[in-house]
Parts: sequence; C-alpha cells; structure tokens
Amino acid sequence: MNSVPLSDINISQAHHLALLFSDVAAGPGLQRSIEAFANQYDTYLLTDAEQIMPELLRGNFDVLFLDIDGEGLDVDKLLPLVRQQFSLPELPILLLSSPLSEVKRNAALDKGATDFITKPLTANDVVLKTRNALAFRHCFKNHRAARDLLEQQVRIRTAKLNMLIDSGLMMSREKSRDRLLAHILREGQKLLHCDGGTIFLVTQNKSLRFAIRTRDDVLPFEEIELYDPVSGKINDRYASTYAANHNKTVIINNVYDEQRFDCSGTQAFDIKTGYRTVSLLTVPMAPRNGQVIGILQFINALAPETGAVIPFPDDVVELVEALAAQSAVALDNLQLIEGQKATTESIIRVLASAIDTKSPHTGHHCVRVPELAMMLAEAACKQTQGPLAHFNFESEDQWLEFRVGAWLHDCGKVTTPEYVIEKATKLDMLFNRIHEIRMRFEVLLRDANIRRLETLLEGGNDLEADQKFDREKAELIRDFAFIADCNMGRESMHPSDCERIRTIGEKTWLRYFDDTLGLSQQDTMRLQADDKPALPVTEQLLSDKPKHIVPRPPNKVPDPALGIKMNIPENMFNYGEIYNLSIQKGTLTAEERYKINEHIIETINLLEKIPFPDFLQRVPEYATTHHETLDGRGYPRKLTEKDLSIPARIMAVADIFEAITASDRPYKKPYKLSESLKILSNMKNNRHIDPDVFELFLTSGVYKEFAVKYLLPEQIDDVDIYEFIGPSP
Ligand SMILES: [Fe+2]
Ligand SMILES: [Fe+2]
Repeated sequence: MNSVPLSDINISQAHHLALLFSDVAAGPGLQRSIEAFANQYDTYLLTDAEQIMPELLRGNFDVLFLDIDGEGLDVDKLLPLVRQQFSLPELPILLLSSPLSEVKRNAALDKGATDFITKPLTANDVVLKTRNALAFRHCFKNHRAARDLLEQQVRIRTAKLNMLIDSGLMMSREKSRDRLLAHILREGQKLLHCDGGTIFLVTQNKSLRFAIRTRDDVLPFEEIELYDPVSGKINDRYASTYAANHNKTVIINNVYDEQRFDCSGTQAFDIKTGYRTVSLLTVPMAPRNGQVIGILQFINALAPETGAVIPFPDDVVELVEALAAQSAVALDNLQLIEGQKATTESIIRVLASAIDTKSPHTGHHCVRVPELAMMLAEAACKQTQGPLAHFNFESEDQWLEFRVGAWLHDCGKVTTPEYVIEKATKLDMLFNRIHEIRMRFEVLLRDANIRRLETLLEGGNDLEADQKFDREKAELIRDFAFIADCNMGRESMHPSDCERIRTIGEKTWLRYFDDTLGLSQQDTMRLQADDKPALPVTEQLLSDKPKHIVPRPPNKVPDPALGIKMNIPENMFNYGEIYNLSIQKGTLTAEERYKINEHIIETINLLEKIPFPDFLQRVPEYATTHHETLDGRGYPRKLTEKDLSIPARIMAVADIFEAITASDRPYKKPYKLSESLKILSNMKNNRHIDPDVFELFLTSGVYKEFAVKYLLPEQIDDVDIYEFIGPSP
C-alpha cells in the first residue's frame, strides 16, 4: 500500500491505480480510508478538479473516486467529459457523498457515475462497491482483449487468404515458368514467415531436380532419385522423396533430432555454408490428377515477434498446402500450354520441311526464310533510334506468333502441282512432251521416205525423189531443232518465232489409232466434247485443241470475302502445244504463273481453317503478306504501304533475299551477294520493299551473317553497303 504524492509516481507502470478527487480538508482522510479498506490499490489524491481530466488521460487508472462534497467540483460538467473518453465498463466512477447530497448524487449517477458510497466510508462499502465495479471492468477488459485477439487472428488469416487469392490470380496469368516458380517460392516464404525455401521438380526420370531456391547461388546439379536405381524400390529415405512419393506434407521441428528421415544432406549443407537449419517443412505439389509434379521445401520458421527460429506452426501448414495445390495447377497448366506450343511449332516445322523436301526447286526456302526473318526482327527490336526505334516484340508470345507466321509463309505450296513448280521446259507436264512432238517429226520423216520409195516403186525419177526426200528431211530436222529450242524458254520470243511455230504446226500427218483409248476417267470425261472423226484422221504437227484446255472449276475461284485482287485466268490449265511453245518469256503459261502465285491464296485458305488462339491471331497476316509491295502492285490483295506492318515488311525482304541467293535451286544460277543486294536495292527504289527494313538489313550486318551461313563461298563478294543506303533516286 502506497501513499505518495501523485507527481512522484510513474503512473503508467502502476499495477492498480485509483484516482481520488476530494478537497484539501477531506482528501487525506478519504485516501487513508480507501487504502485501508481496499488495499490492493494505490490511490492518488487530487484536490484540484481541473486536473481530473488531464490526469485520467495521462494515466492508466482503474477506478475514479469522486468526493462530490468536495470544493470546486462541477459533476454536471466533468462527467460527460469523462464519459466521452472512457465508457462505463472501462472506467468505474464511484461517488463519495454525504447522506445530505442525495440530489447531487442522483444527478451524478444520471450523468454517468457507476455507483456511490455514502460517507463516512465503511470497509464493507468500499470493498464491495470497488470490487463489483472492478469485476465488471475486468470482465469487460478480458472480453475486449479476447475480441481484439480474435480480430487480429481473423485479420492475419484474411490477409493470408487474400494473399493466396491474389497469388492464385497472378499464377493463372503468369506465362513464364521461371517467374512462376519464383513467385511460388516468394509467396510460400511470406505465408510461413520463414528464412528460405527451395522448389524441386519431378523429372521424367523419376527424380527430384532443383528448380529454384531463395538462396542466391548456383543450383546443385544432383538429382534425388525417387526410386532406388538398383532395386527399383520406392525411396522414402528423405523427407522430400517421401513427400513426393506419398503426396504428403512432412514437418520436421529440428533436423538434428530427426529420426524418421535422413537429414544428412541438410546437415552437410550447414557445415559447408555455416548456416544452421532447424525446422523444415516439405509440401508436395500435386495438380488435379494427384500426381506429384514437384516439392516445396521451406526452412527455419521465424517467430514474428522475435525472429527466433521456431517449428513451423500447424495453422499455416494448410495454407501452404493450398498454395502448393494452386502452384501445381498453375505449373501443370503452364506445362500443358508449353507442350501444346512446342507440339504446334514442331508440326509447323515439319510441314515447312516437307514442302522444302517435296521439291528441289524450293530447296530450303521454307526453313531458311523464318531464320532470316527472325534475325531481321531481332535487329529491328534492338533499334533505339531511327524509323524502327518504336518497333518491338514485347512478349515471348509475340515472338512465337511471328515465328509461326514465318514458318507458314509458303504453306500453300503444298497444293501447287510439282510439274508446275518444276516446269523446266515449255512442253513439260508430268513429262516433257517434246518427245511426243519429236515422234511426229519421226512419222513425217518416215512418210516422206515412204513417198520417195513409192515413187521409186512406181518407176519415177530416182534422183528427183531422193532430192525431194533430202530437202524434206533437212527441213524437218531444222524445224524440230527450232521447236526444241523454243521449248527451252531461254530467249524471249519474237512475233516471227511464234508465226514460224504456227507455220511448222500446219504440217499434217495421218493418225490411224483411236486417241481416246487408254485414258484416265478424268481425261475421258474432259474429252467427251471433242469430235471423234473417222480414222484415219489428218492431224496437224502442232495444235491447240479443245482437249488441251482444262476449264477452271467454280471452287478454284477465290471466295470474294478473302479480298483477293489477282487476275484470274479463265482456264485452269491450257496444254495447247502452240500456246505453250509460244510462251513469250520463261516456261510458264499465264495459267501456270497464276497457279504458282496461287500458293499464297492457298496459304490464306489453309490458315483460315485454323482456329488460332489469341496470342497467334496475327499469324495469317505475317504468313500471307510477303508478296505484297509498298506501291500496291503486289499480290494477292494489292495491299499498300498503310496496310503493311513492320513484321510483314521484314517477311518480304527475307523471302526475296533467300529466294535470289539460294544456291540449291536447279533451275537457276545463284546470284552473287552484291548482285542480290543490287536487285533488292532496285526493289527498294521501285517501292516494292521497305527502305528502312532494307537499310537495317544492311547496317545490322544481317545480310552478311546469313550469307556466311548459307551462301556458297564463291557467291560472297565484296559489298559496299553505302552504295545502297540512302533515299531512293
Ligand atoms: Fe510465297
Ligand atoms: Fe517464300
């Protein structure tokens, strides 16, 4: 029991404190009585009523005694003020009043006093009334403390659950495996409030491989076998393998006391690093099918208040198990998506390789164009200034989209007939029809010889017959040589050449055999319309007949919705002999030229049928615009500058450069590097290709890098790139 001046007491440290107000005259006596009767309190006397409120706010008082008979106290003013700050159960106010102060006392009770003790004080009154008031206060305080604790636990739990929800959302969006693993580890460490962690992933060889850990060092290469490699038995020796094999969480409070599992690895790690591992929590990650795909392992739980290492508390383990389940689903989904992407890309690569393999005329075009396009795109992304500075592929998906587009850029060639792609002479179909025509020359020669022999048999002039035959023979040989030369398509045809073909073609021969026998069903149907004259029939040496024409079926006209703006020949093919031999330049008819170019329409048709996911939506654009030009004269849609994206322009440059430099095409001699760049430069000047992309192609050195890798050494000559750089003339 103390009785010291208030100013000497450190109130905040007193255990039970009572504040007593009374006047100078009565105060000390009341203080003595209270302390005598209720000796568990230190009672502090105040004789200045103005100090009551400041002292209550300053100290942690358990009860307030107010002597309402004391001088200077205005309870009507004081009590509402006190109750504004302290509720009834929080601060009991006991009035000390004389029996004559009943009215004042009742008014004070109305204003918020708890109870009263009538003076003179008795031990019973003081003890009982203070005890009751304080018991009530005690209950209230306990209740409030319990409520506060509960609220705090709910808050912490809610925060952790929110963390789990946020984490789940983040994981469902994350597309990078490394970032996902780092996130899982970080979130687990936050949930558990622990010192570190590691993620192991189950390999295809049934072992655990280090995937990531919080410790910033090189990951160990060793893998932990889930099965004994010799006996094939399940390996439950370690907490990690046990958790993975049985899909069960393992809690170890102290690795140095652990009897169930071998913790020698952890202990060896401690010796090596000077770290001290104590508690260990191992949680399996298993997606929906229950198959464990990895392990989360956390070390050394830390007490939130002190930071001391403690065992992992049970109540957070289930939250980490929830995190592990979420992580497993996210990882599983990511693996599925990665697997799908890899499979899709492989199939596309196989398709591109198959097109290349199908025809030597394509060489390695479908495989090399994507490589060159990627090199150029990478160079473009590195630009920090100039016209391409703004261009960038920001995500791995955007790179994938471009790569897939490049791989598919000529996929329509799968539908182009080989004989058209490879048509090396004008009369080529599935075979070179020059032999059929040569055979007719043979027939004509023999007919001439027969006529000579008939003249001799009929007793005609030998010399004249021989001379006539020799002239006819020489003419036939000359004419055939001319026709055979026209067939090669080496030179541009002069109108007089075409006239000579027609004149030669007018020679006739007699056909004794039915030319409708031995035909395919398709040819038979196509030839039905032709006249079938009686045999023998006079045939021209060369002719354009109805049977040579393959009409265009309705399904070979592009759907108007595709926006194709190409001149489509009326017929699909025209095999007319004079028609083909008269091809002005090269070996292809207009129909065949269209057929070749039609590969891009077929590419569009094929890609239209593929339901690309969102992240591959631009694949058709990247795959189908490489024949468009800035001046709007390209094909198939005659797009213009405003329609062509940077990736589309990159594709055009890659496609042309590969095609003209390729050394593996049987039909042409490859251009030298300088010649190829000259061609591209002309195309730039003619606004076929993008000048900025072409300049980047030169200045970045991509042209050289690609040339060194794929061109023949003799193709690589000296190039002055500055000859081609700068504005178009
Ligand atoms: Fe193409
Ligand atoms: Fe191409």
